[in-house]
Amino acid sequence: MKAVSVLVAVCLAVGVSCAKDMKEEDWEHFDFDMEIKRKAGQAKINLKTDHDASLKYIDDILNLAIKWKRIIKDGLVKKDIPDPGNHIPFSINITEPTDCDPAVDGAIMGDILRVHYVGSLALDEKVVDTSFKTGSVPQKLILGSQSMKNFPACWEPGLQGICKGERRIVACPSELAFGKEGMPPFVGPYADIYYSFSLVDYTQRGMRNMPTEL
Ligand SMILES: *[C@@H]1O[C@H](CO)[C@@H](O)[C@H](O)[C@H]1NC(C)=O
Repeated sequence: MKAVSVLVAVCLAVGVSCAKDMKEEDWEHFDFDMEIKRKAGQAKINLKTDHDASLKYIDDILNLAIKWKRIIKDGLVKKDIPDPGNHIPFSINITEPTDCDPAVDGAIMGDILRVHYVGSLALDEKVVDTSFKTGSVPQKLILGSQSMKNFPACWEPGLQGICKGERRIVACPSELAFGKEGMPPFVGPYADIYYSFSLVDYTQRGMRNMPTEL
């Protein structure tokens, strides 16, 4: 997307001809509507002073319109897929409990966790992501930190209270995972995912209440 925006910006500067250098798949994100409006504005401005310039802008509009039509016909513009509904509800299923008291030793916001995880599609159990792919290095994360945005939204609530050595399965409805966009090519639109977590270890950094003396 970023490369496309840069290309579009360059094209705006030098005119439509440079847009020919764009890769076919990039055209899906090209803003034809805006570019045609911009050229139309230029054509209008030049009408009073320079008909050749106006005609050049109108030719550009025609070329853009032809290109727009072609990429739609070629199926390069994807339609939104409707949400099939019937999503799994968010839930936490502790499959391997420990004897730790989650209220005392469970992970809280601010703690630094190292977790192994396996994410699989609710639909067919196909594994879509796992920490075991990268030489079994556990994923490090800080609950409640900005960097949690790099993970599906269900991870933060799903990992609250997890104890060292515990295993749990967090059911993530699509809206708390990858939503409408999915994560091509592994996760399709609106896909629900089960994440199986095991907490390898963690560092307590979150604010825990001090025990109160009575
Ligand atoms: C929790 O997960 C286990 C293992 O996958 C499964 O057998 C069990 O039915 C689940 N329990 C609930 C309440 O979903």
